[in-house]
Amino acid sequence: MLAIRLVSGSVRPDSLVLPVRPGGPDSPAVLVPTAAPSADDVRAEAGALLPAARLTGAAGEVREHLRPGAAPNRLWLLGVGAGDEQDWRVAGAALARAAKDETQITIALPDDAGTALRGLAEGLLLGSYRYRLTEAGARPSLAGVDLLVTDPQAHADTLAAARTTAEMTVLARDLTNTPSSTKHPEWFADQVAAAAADRSDLHLRVREPRELAAEGFGGLLAVGGGSARGPRLVELDWRPAGARTHVVLVGKGITFDTGGISIKPVPAMKLMRKDMAGAAAVVAATLGAAALGLPVRVTTLAPLAENMVSGSAFRPGDIIRHYGGLTSESTNSDAEGRLVLADAMAYAVRELKPDLLVDLATLTGANAVALGKRHAALYSENDDLAAGLLAAISAAGERAWRMPLADDYVEYLASDIADLHSSPARGAGSVVAALFLREFTGDLRDRWAHLDMSAPSWSDDVHGELVKGATGWGVRGLLRWLGTLG
Ligand code: BES
Ligand code: MN
Ligand code: ZN
Repeated sequence: MLAIRLVSGSVRPDSLVLPVRPGGPDSPAVLVPTAAPSADDVRAEAGALLPAARLTGAAGEVREHLRPGAAPNRLWLLGVGAGDEQDWRVAGAALARAAKDETQITIALPDDAGTALRGLAEGLLLGSYRYRLTEAGARPSLAGVDLLVTDPQAHADTLAAARTTAEMTVLARDLTNTPSSTKHPEWFADQVAAAAADRSDLHLRVREPRELAAEGFGGLLAVGGGSARGPRLVELDWRPAGARTHVVLVGKGITFDTGGISIKPVPAMKLMRKDMAGAAAVVAATLGAAALGLPVRVTTLAPLAENMVSGSAFRPGDIIRHYGGLTSESTNSDAEGRLVLADAMAYAVRELKPDLLVDLATLTGANAVALGKRHAALYSENDDLAAGLLAAISAAGERAWRMPLADDYVEYLASDIADLHSSPARGAGSVVAALFLREFTGDLRDRWAHLDMSAPSWSDDVHGELVKGATGWGVRGLLRWLGTLG
């Protein structure tokens, strides 16, 4: 990963980056005041270039100028827009891509560097991310960035928090991008074990099929039953001394979703290796909470299964007995996510008794139909919880939109033979799925939030700090939110 250092004083002889912002209507961009680069003529030179450079100052604009024989010998002007955290994040990502053939650059930061630093560092780290199985075709890429500030020591914690946040987002992206030939439930659980191994303050329990059967996790066993590679339940606990709030995070971990016997058509199946992005996000956020030492207890549950087609697969019309005893009639084996989540949520409510319960899931294609490619759908009966999550998600540069738990569709969840019908053919898809999950929240009904994040879990293009592929959606927002709880 890109090495980022805080420095003051002299600038290296290679590349210097100066931020610019919009100068007002019909005016060229202007330089943002920064910690002074030691090469004294370079600011004046940049100022003289600006009218001709045709920069608007918008976040992410990048212009490179050569200075033959001078030091630094390259001068970059970087648009940072209004200069809020997300603008800096976008700028950092754009710069990481534009300067990918450099090995080392220096960026001058504003004197009040806090907000800028957080966004810029995350943008640099996330924008330079790429997932490759082989090195073939890999080009030289930016290896080191020096951030020029007046007082490096004052910003060390901010940089460390940005780095941890980016590292955890990268972990979630790597897990989600991994092909499902490699990524099966046991493999995923092993990755969690490896990531938690050097922390004695994190506790991990992985349940195998035998234990799942003994304890009654019927949804997870049904969905995982069609695969040669059996299901697992990951339970990862960060329990700092003195924590007053206990949060349980639940993440959907379908390592591949064929749809099962209700098999998906080709176009719908091609990206279903990402169907564990919720599990990746909650695991990474929990590891991040531990790395940052957040004073809140976090227990993460990741029900992991591969939804396959075989002689042992569950059938449409089967009745499933979930953890805790509620039964559901499933007439579409492609509505598998809610079945595994139901078990994990019921377990959390009955056994862990947390203060708050939040689940993340690539649950429905309807998320994108309702909200487009980049917004998750947030559901909660608790206005404070919803507002807190939405604020944290947006502060972290992610997006979500609150949706209604509309009572109109509750009657569709009725079954003639079981307590619930899990996949009614009527109603708004993302809403109905949320209403089904609500049935498993018990006492925590008004302390629960559900995030349907199938849309923003993947990006089809390069966009700000996102690159094509898995986005790691949820890690940044959850870490911000956990940081607000005490
Ligand atoms: N994993 C899918 C949802 C999904 C779709 C995620 C597209 C990402 C992109 C989920 O298991 C699923 O198949 N949902 C069905 C539900 C339906 C059968 C009630 C859907 O959305 O069509
Ligand atoms: Mn499915
Ligand atoms: Zn699925």
